[in-house]
Amino acid sequence: MSVVILDHPREREDNDRIAIVRINRPDALNALNLEVRQELARIFRELTEDDEVLAVVLTGDEKAFAAGADLKDMADRTTVEMFHRKTERLWQAIADYPKPVIAAINGYALGGGLELAMHSDIIVIGETAQVGQPEVRVGIMPGAGGTQRLTRAVGKFQAMRICLTGRPIDGREAFAIGLASQVVPDTEVYETAYKMAKDITRMPPIAVQQIKSAILKGQDASLETGMALERAMFQGLFATADQSEGMHAFIEKRRPDFKGE
Ligand code: CAA
Repeated sequence: MSVVILDHPREREDNDRIAIVRINRPDALNALNLEVRQELARIFRELTEDDEVLAVVLTGDEKAFAAGADLKDMADRTTVEMFHRKTERLWQAIADYPKPVIAAINGYALGGGLELAMHSDIIVIGETAQVGQPEVRVGIMPGAGGTQRLTRAVGKFQAMRICLTGRPIDGREAFAIGLASQVVPDTEVYETAYKMAKDITRMPPIAVQQIKSAILKGQDASLETGMALERAMFQGLFATADQSEGMHAFIEKRRPDFKGE
């Protein structure tokens, strides 16, 4: 059985254009060894070329989303070995995926596990999940966005607390500080994430991708540059058939039928 399972719509009968990507190393609490990262990168690169899929649910199991980088694999590495692993290219494949990714988190999302979750666009978390950046406790620091994406998500003071103490917080607190989009009882995490993905797949696909792009690119630009980017994308959408369909459907009091054109 693969360490990452791709459940593609072509293998299902529900017609939902959602891919489910599931990390599958239960014996190691889904720790991210090189094989898991390579598989995740391969799958996301493949999905980038896949027009059939409109949204991704990224998840683990009930005990762990992912308990971080594989410490057994990392313990005796040298700087040069870490350099040559070029794992930034593997992470980038996920960051570059243009359609919405919804992380469904139960159990542990620690270190690289939380960093992976922060590569997604929406996080649905269980009330008792445990998320954090415990790298400092094993002598290192976050290396895949824990000091950067986390700070953008929750601000300096919460990011400092989480990274400097290494102490995890639960799903309720993660939601309260802005590290999750929605908190739900543990048993409802996956179905909530899936339903949200399904709602998004009913939206006009080009607008959806442009919204994702504008939010991510705008986060790192000045307000003026972000606004200019948003305006250009907004105006560009008036060239799509889905803009006409959406507005005429509203006027004619019917459901729009978006085609991604
Ligand atoms: N790497 C490798 N193996 C791991 C692991 C990890 N990050 N996390 C858990 N495991 C393994 C354990 O070694 C154990 O395996 P064995 O049964 O073979 O001993 C199995 O998963 C179950 O784990 P525990 O027995 O420890 O389970 P627990 O319920 O007692 O504790 C836990 C759970 C609190 C998550 C604990 O496992 C833990 O602290 N794990 C490490 C978390 C961590 O430090 N992650 C950050 C890694 S560094 C990083 O991620 C760097 C980066 O950003 C790039």
